Amino acid sequence: NKGKYEHYMQKEIHEQPESLTTTMRGRLIRGGSCKAKSVLLGGLKDHLKTIRRSRRVVFIGCGTSYNAALAARPILEELSGVPVTMEIASDLVDRQGPIYREDTAVFVSQSGETADTLQALEYALENGALCVGITNTVGSIIARNTHCGVHINAGCEIGVASTKAYTSQIVVMAMVALAIGGDTISNQARREAIIDGLFDLPKKVREVLKLDQEMRDLAKLLIAEQSLLVFGRGYNYATALEGALKVKEVALMHSEGILAGEMKHGPLALVDENLPIVVIATRDGCFSKQQSVIQQLHARKGRLIVMCSRGDAASVCPGGSCRVIEVPQVEDCLQPVVNIVPLQLLAYHLTVLRGFNVDQPRNLAKSVTTQ
Ligand code: UD1
Ligand code: F6R
Repeated sequence: NKGKYEHYMQKEIHEQPESLTTTMRGRLIRGGSCKAKSVLLGGLKDHLKTIRRSRRVVFIGCGTSYNAALAARPILEELSGVPVTMEIASDLVDRQGPIYREDTAVFVSQSGETADTLQALEYALENGALCVGITNTVGSIIARNTHCGVHINAGCEIGVASTKAYTSQIVVMAMVALAIGGDTISNQARREAIIDGLFDLPKKVREVLKLDQEMRDLAKLLIAEQSLLVFGRGYNYATALEGALKVKEVALMHSEGILAGEMKHGPLALVDENLPIVVIATRDGCFSKQQSVIQQLHARKGRLIVMCSRGDAASVCPGGSCRVIEVPQVEDCLQPVVNIVPLQLLAYHLTVLRGFNVDQPRNLAKSVTTQ
């Protein structure tokens, strides 16, 4: 049932404040006079010790689920102190890459049925790793075959392009990072800031959804383009990949997410006055580096669309020469949840304006159960 919406993708984008609330329900403890703020993940609590002791955590997934894990990687590294590596499921299987008994392998999958991810799970089970699922579908094969895990509880996702599952996956993985990290004096302030940020996140996502009309206007400008580049780094490298994936899969426009640190190693050659480029430059430890990326793109007359924190338009946009998307600022590791929303809206409107099928893009299926 699409309710007041025309398409499932549109409905699922707009219901993210609610889906995120459901994802966190019963799992965040607000704390109080004698109780610390904390996280309780029923599905992981008996396994936290093993995960903390593992030699590394390896995230495994495909498409949007892989991107969600990439967004959560920095905070897991920071809070757990355990090395975190990333594997695209099919590539791990193709290489028969190393997975050991001392590893924790985390399988991220909305459907819980993706053939490549399932095959990687079978491989990791054979190799003796602790296998953890982050899934949306209760009773799915990946949820059943993992040793333990967390349901993201985002509700049924019908649009082929994953939207609300992505933001819920990131939130669950941030909570996993908090759970694995445990309470130490040295990280207490950081933990509390993240937990407060999680409580506030649905409200911030509701705010960023107000950019709907602005994103429609931007889509009108981009309707006839051949290509769109998206530059991000740090916490928002994943946002660049995921934004570009949305644009290509539904709007059927070539789009590429690029790690901004790689700009001078090739992509800069593409920049001219015609190619539109989104640069994600919200406030975090990488902000000044992104400012310098913007200056260099600007010097090559790049057509820039800059996503920045509210109030930062003047400091990111030299001489008012670019289009700016201002978003609410949240705790740095949660910013990808906010930043993806305008790009989801942009992909949605581009698709509708270009006259393509939003909910069932050509050649794609909701769950990819064949290889
Ligand atoms: C569980 C209940 C929830 C109830 C809550 C009350 C289910 C599905 N969940 O939620 O309805 O409100 O207790 O405390 O009954 N798991 C995997 N792999 C996965 C995902 C999950 O093995 O990919 C396992 C978990 O380790 C856990 C079980 O499935 O044993 C349920 O996981 P989850 O729904 O996340 O647990 P709770 O949040 O505790
Ligand atoms: C993109 C998309 C796909 C899926 C991928 C993995 O919007 O939906 O890239 O993310 O097929 O699917 P799951 O998460 O079900 O394993």
